[in-house]
Amino acid sequence: MKSIGVGLIGSGFMGKSHALAWNSVKPVFGDVPDIRLVHLADATPELARAKADEFGFEGASGDWRALVADPDVDVVSITTPNKFHLEMATTALAAGKHVWCEKPMAPNLADAEKMLAAAEASGNVAVLGYNYIQNPMIRHIRKLLADGRIGTVNHVRIEMDEDFMADPEAPFQQRHEKANGWGAIDDFAVHPLSLILTLFGPIERVMCDMSKPYPTRKTPDGERDVEVYDLATILMRLKNGASGFIAVSRTAWGRKGRIAIQVFGAKGSILYDQERMNEVQLYLTEGEPTEAGFRTILSAPHHAPYDRFIPAPGHGLGFLDLKTIECRQLIGRIRGEESLATGFEQGILIERAVDAMARSFQEGRWVTLA
Ligand SMILES: NC(=O)c1ccc[n+]([C@@H]2O[C@H](COP(=O)([O-])OP(=O)(O)OC[C@H]3O[C@@H](n4cnc5c(N)ncnc54)[C@H](O)[C@@H]3O)[C@@H](O)[C@H]2O)c1
Repeated sequence: MKSIGVGLIGSGFMGKSHALAWNSVKPVFGDVPDIRLVHLADATPELARAKADEFGFEGASGDWRALVADPDVDVVSITTPNKFHLEMATTALAAGKHVWCEKPMAPNLADAEKMLAAAEASGNVAVLGYNYIQNPMIRHIRKLLADGRIGTVNHVRIEMDEDFMADPEAPFQQRHEKANGWGAIDDFAVHPLSLILTLFGPIERVMCDMSKPYPTRKTPDGERDVEVYDLATILMRLKNGASGFIAVSRTAWGRKGRIAIQVFGAKGSILYDQERMNEVQLYLTEGEPTEAGFRTILSAPHHAPYDRFIPAPGHGLGFLDLKTIECRQLIGRIRGEESLATGFEQGILIERAVDAMARSFQEGRWVTLA
């Protein structure tokens, strides 16, 4: 493959993140084909043209189907709200394109299963935007666990909190629509689920409670019912035997981008927080008891692929760098290399866990995953 033609649907928060990743993947990694930014589509031709010029895309249209039909596009980045993912992804796959779709796959399990079936039928690569698992420090935690450094893991706790909906006066937005899913469990809990799958493997059963702190939100014309749940607490049992919980909130004042992971094992503990994404805290029982305590490990070139970005330790990667690593993993998958990108066949495990959480909440009981 000499070059990759990119189509980008959506140019908001994630659209810009994908555009930056496509722009930087070659300068950062070097070992990838030339990237051609071919076509950008958004809700109107004017917005699409303006964003195409800003992000460096050649063509622009107000109709995403024109982008999917563009013969110069090889990979379609889908960064629109969740309710569009099914139609956009299945149409792109049927047109012979590879797909990089933002998380979650879809607002409900039935749609996600259709997306998986479309990917399998097409034979094309289809991956999801689970960027947090791409952090070199998360990869290092994975290695620490695989090497048995903290022994058998018995308890896993993950909290994901932000405060962008904490203000009761904040207006209604698309994330409050049922058409885009359940709320905190498919907007947020999917990220902890992707980390759990990466670090510990599948979940066996869940027990979920959800709540809606502010049942109505302001609109320009008045107010509208909030159709989703902004926070959730989930007890879980992993297939590896460990117990634990996930807690997620979009209304947690002061929390800006927290994904706090605590892992407790027979021989030690590991702590991580996305708000300090270049650090891991490690506690090992080895050594003198008088010197026991957590040590801080800072990200450095020996935590690959940090070295591709910066030759000096402790300078730190950022959120957008994770998107660039994810983009490199996607390209690897297209080339048939071993890849840590989350394919639709992994994403469906996340969707099944979300569906089990929703059923658990509705039925007030533990739900075992298939
Ligand atoms: N991976 C992550 O960490 C992460 C973070 C935030 C959001 N997301 C996901 O990214 C997706 C988008 O979220 P966002 O925060 O970027 O939203 P956003 O509102 O910032 O951007 C959405 C974009 O889609 C465009 N759009 C809407 N309807 C369209 C249509 N019919 N045709 C073409 N374009 C259309 C909008 O104009 C806008 O440019 C969601 O699925 C969300 O869950 C992922």
